[in-house]
Formats: sequence, C-alpha cells, structure tokens
Amino acid sequence: MTRDDLFNINAGIVRDLVSAVADNCPGAFIHIISNPVNSTVPIAAEVLKQKGVYDPKKLFGVTTLDVVRANTFVAQRKNLKLIDVDVPVVGGHAGITILPLLSKTKPSASFTGEEIEELTVRIQNAGTEVVEAKAGAGSATLSMAYAAARFVESSLRALDGDGDVYECSFVQSDLTELPFFASRVKLGRKGVEALIPSDLQGLTEYEQKALEALKPELKASIEKGIAFAQKQTVAA
Ligand SMILES: NC(=O)c1ccc[n+]([C@@H]2O[C@H](COP(=O)([O-])OP(=O)(O)OC[C@H]3O[C@@H](n4cnc5c(N)ncnc54)[C@H](O)[C@@H]3O)[C@@H](O)[C@H]2O)c1
Repeated sequence: MTRDDLFNINAGIVRDLVSAVADNCPGAFIHIISNPVNSTVPIAAEVLKQKGVYDPKKLFGVTTLDVVRANTFVAQRKNLKLIDVDVPVVGGHAGITILPLLSKTKPSASFTGEEIEELTVRIQNAGTEVVEAKAGAGSATLSMAYAAARFVESSLRALDGDGDVYECSFVQSDLTELPFFASRVKLGRKGVEALIPSDLQGLTEYEQKALEALKPELKASIEKGIAFAQKQTVAA
C-alpha cells in the first residue's frame, strides 16, 4: 500500500477530525501526520477555511521523520555523531517529493555523486521499505512516534517562548510556486514565525533538477486534497 492508497481511507478521517478541531479548539497548532501528508494538509486547510478559522501559521504537515532518517543515514555514512548532524529535507512527504538537501548538511560533509544518489533514494524510500517489510501490518510506527514526539516538543518549546526553534514541516508556503511546501521553518508562539528560504538558495545541479522534478507530483497531490475537500461541504 502506498501513501496515495491511504488517501481514500485517511482523507475522510482527517476532514472529520479537523472539522472537530475547528469547532472545539480553533486556535490550536494542528499537526497532520496521516498520509498522504501532501494531500491531507491541503484537506485540513480547506476544512478550516470552510469553518472560517484557517490560520496557515498553525497548520503543519509532520515531515520530521524524513529529517530523522536523513540525519541517521548521513551520520552512519560519514561516521559523524548523530546528534551533531542536521540535513534539511524539503518538498513533500512521499517518494520523489522528499528532497534531502545533502549539500546543506551540517556539519558540512562532502559526498560523491554516487553517495548523493544512493542516500537520496534511500531517504525517499525508507518509509516504503518499512511498509513492505511489515506486509500489511502497518507502517514505521515507532520512528513515526519518535518524529511526532520531536515535532510536538519543538512546538511546545516555541509556545513557551523559546526563540530558537527550527523544524522542517510541510506548510502553506510562498518559497516556490506551489501553495504548500516543506522547508525549514522557525516556530514561535503563534506558529510559523518565518519560512527559511536560504536552504533553497545555492542548490547543486542535482538538487535543482530534483526540485523541478518533484513539483508536478506535489502539485497534483495538493490539488487532489483541495478537490476532495471542496467536493464536500463541511457541516457548519
Ligand atoms: N508523517 C509520517 O512521518 C508518517 C510515518 C509513518 C506513518 N504515517 C501515517 O500514520 C498513520 C498511522 O499509521 P500506522 O502504521 O500507525 O497505522 P495503523 O493501521 O497501525 O494504525 C491506525 C490506527 O488508527 C485507528 N483508526 C482507524 N480509523 C480511525 C478513525 N476513523 N478515527 C480514529 N482512529 C482511527 C485504527 O484503529 C488504528 O489503531 C498512517 O496514515 C500512516 O501513513 C505517517
């Protein structure tokens, strides 16, 4: 089962849960982790708009696991301490829409063309690898829980006034021509305080090509979510 197969099951679940959030706690930070995140976040946005309570700064697609995987695989490959490694992952949260920006790895590390190709594909397919290994018995449950916990903790730190909280997340964005895009964001008391455009500047040729290549798929997934939500008017 791919993330997209989950659309038919999860689109309605996300619509109904977000509708309840809109009615009961419209000011909350909303973290969407149900797949396909590339579509479920736009669904949530539409529902919130229909309810008149959409605050784009408070709606997040949880893509933390892509960063966790990228950091882990790079640390292993380069013999670095995992805690020191930070690889921004941009785009979306499925297949080729997951774009690890290995050239922006901190601490800076150099990769051969072969390593870049291998690591990129491994990070993009890591979720599918686990789903296939579990053969119908769920997805990457524990690592998903870890990623969710990390993102929630970051959100709580931001809500508590910590001025130095950055995470990658799939959010409403103007960094590209797409209405939603995952990038590093600065989190603050009111949600997204700033999108971080610098990661998208000075990309390598490989990354630039991959960025252009992911856009049509990501656009289609976003539009699929919006169309689903607009087809069904949420009960007021
Ligand atoms: N964003 C990420 O990084 C990431 C990573 C892994 C998995 N996921 C997604 O997380 C979701 C859960 O994955 P899983 O492997 O734990 O799946 P799972 O099938 O093991 O668990 C899903 C749970 O949801 C419950 N459920 C079903 N319908 C429901 C409803 N209408 N209301 C409330 N609960 C309902 C089920 O009873 C079950 O306990 C999936 O959408 C998966 O794709 C996201």
